[in-house]
Amino acid sequence: MSYVRLDSDSISYVLDLSSGGIPRMAYWGSRLHDRAEPDQLAAMNNRPLFQAWLDEPYFLNIFPEQGTGFRGRPALSGEKDGQHWATLFKIEKIEQKNQSARIFLIDNLAGLKLVLDLEIDATSGILSRRTTIKNLTEPVYRLSYCAAGAIEIPSNCHELLTFHGCWTGEFLTQRYAFRPGLTQFENRTGRTSHEFFPGLIAGTKDFGENHGTVYGTHLGWSGNSVFFTELIPDGIRQIQMAELLMPGEIVLGKNDTYTSPWIYSGLSHKGLNGLSHKFHQFLRRKILPRTTQTSKRPIIFNSWEAVYFDHNLDDLCRMASKTADLGFERFVLDDGWFHNRNDDTQALGDWWTDQKKYPQGLQPLIEHVENCGMEFGLWIEPEMISPNSELYRKHPDWVLGLEGFPQLTGRQQLVLDLSRQDVMTYLFDRLNEILALHPISYLKWDMNRTLTMAGHKGCPAFHNQTKSLYDLIDRLREAHPHIEIESCASGGGRIDFEILKRTDRFWTSDSNDPFRRQQIQKGASIFFPPEITGSHIGPATCHTSGRITDITFRALTSFFSHFGAEFNLFELDDKEENILKTYISLHKQYRDIIHHGRSIRLELSDPLRNGLGVVSSDMKTALFCIVQMDIPTQTSARTICFSHLDPDSTYRLRLIRPVHHSIESKLVNPENWYSGFRLPGKTLMQTGISIFLPWPGTGVMFELKSINR
Ligand code: GLA
Repeated sequence: MSYVRLDSDSISYVLDLSSGGIPRMAYWGSRLHDRAEPDQLAAMNNRPLFQAWLDEPYFLNIFPEQGTGFRGRPALSGEKDGQHWATLFKIEKIEQKNQSARIFLIDNLAGLKLVLDLEIDATSGILSRRTTIKNLTEPVYRLSYCAAGAIEIPSNCHELLTFHGCWTGEFLTQRYAFRPGLTQFENRTGRTSHEFFPGLIAGTKDFGENHGTVYGTHLGWSGNSVFFTELIPDGIRQIQMAELLMPGEIVLGKNDTYTSPWIYSGLSHKGLNGLSHKFHQFLRRKILPRTTQTSKRPIIFNSWEAVYFDHNLDDLCRMASKTADLGFERFVLDDGWFHNRNDDTQALGDWWTDQKKYPQGLQPLIEHVENCGMEFGLWIEPEMISPNSELYRKHPDWVLGLEGFPQLTGRQQLVLDLSRQDVMTYLFDRLNEILALHPISYLKWDMNRTLTMAGHKGCPAFHNQTKSLYDLIDRLREAHPHIEIESCASGGGRIDFEILKRTDRFWTSDSNDPFRRQQIQKGASIFFPPEITGSHIGPATCHTSGRITDITFRALTSFFSHFGAEFNLFELDDKEENILKTYISLHKQYRDIIHHGRSIRLELSDPLRNGLGVVSSDMKTALFCIVQMDIPTQTSARTICFSHLDPDSTYRLRLIRPVHHSIESKLVNPENWYSGFRLPGKTLMQTGISIFLPWPGTGVMFELKSINR
């Protein structure tokens, strides 16, 4: 066999095996017709020789090696007693099944075996890849780097988009040109991180939401990671992503293996929206737990910014009654419910109900919530321990740390060592008991500090910590299959495809500031669909930014997500309460489309606006939202062109109430806007419409319904 060809409905990926070593990519692009001849594609990719080169051309393989003469960064780094630092693998055998291939390679000299797994998703065309390395002989192989794979980027893709940020400012995007040499990103926080989301887009010049060729790639791993772009000055461009390993973290004895995380890559010739659609389809089909697919996403009320640690049963019951009256469907009791947890300086690890706040346990509150017709959810932070806790006093040796180094606290807490079986047993038993005792439908699983000197018996334990976390969640899910889990790490710190195999949504950010949230959610939406993007209406004065915003803007910002609220509902005046109630019932009306349709970011001509929408899969219904992020610089309204509608359908476009008074007062014939205009899909996309939004922090939502007979 000299080629491996993997086809999806829209994409083909072809590997050239002719060298007998690590394969080269011969083609990655739109689906080839069945008669396509791979050798023709491979032949076209041959490189001429140049002076001052080796006598053979070098290529970028799908797992580049030192031993081939490749002059960029190899995909593997390790050694055996100072030897075998370079490899030259040869193919042993290949197993191919429909859309997946396993390539087995061996380097007899180094005594190493390599297995490359590749799989293309039939619908989205997303390519999943990972690497397994096995040490076949003595002595030990000290592995320092093993990429999930190298992604070859064609030389017409000059531009990069990366996602960086900080707490309350996640997924902010940066755009720049591919730079010669290496541009490397490292996340050493022990979680996916707020700073360096392991995702990256490369694309053709000026690629946009709906135009340009773009290649997107993401590492599904919730621990330390390293990824880079490399432009070798001769024009070769590669991206690699891997787990970041500490020195001595992975030492492979004879017959031991290491498997990298999965890397997921996709390509679109229709800009970022095309790529997002593929990632969203893939997540929905292949990654997310079934609950997310089959159940309606209940509208959540979360107690955190409403009461913080100040739990009082009567007040919470009153709050729950109000919550139910307004139409919420799930009541989540956040931090503060367990033994002595009166502030964030203490009690993590003591996972039993606080007797002072809840003398009869959680049951009275849960019963009340259920009697109100809502589900009950609970906050936990299992991986953590407070030095001021019963658990720490009993087991000070249960924490991650390294002798001779200070044990730095973060939010006054330390981290439990999940490499220890006794710790894993304790955590499983405590959580299992809580879930067995109470009808809990949802856990908010938090993780509020980064890992520093994460040592287990003196060795680095970052890798095991992440693996053990996965095991713990998997065991709990197996024991309680109905439970939904939210991934939260101070909001936004643990969002990736691997954690999403076992969690149903994430808390996107601790920022409920709608201005900031617009940016955060826009960045996150490139990879993640709305039904798993947790977004809550917060208080009028945002607790993390101090900014005051209108309730319609806050509601619109959370609307196209897994919707909810977290603030003291008793602070609402009658008008605001009605507005909130209206958005809750609107969300129930539209959530099927929002959570199962195709979501879109609009490319607006006005840089001071943000626009997004969702179109049902039959293109008969669409919802779009335009928000004003700053004071307009023009008094004549700028045009809004919609996208992804059926060009041949006629739509009725209407403005959905409530509409902020500043906008309503500027509408000419408001009744026409509410009853709707009839316009062809083509016109809505090409000519567009105009509406004036004079105030920043306001927005409008349009419903578009196809009225073809
Ligand atoms: C983290 C979370 C918040 C909240 C607090 C509770 O900061 O991101 O949403 O749950 O912990 O302590």
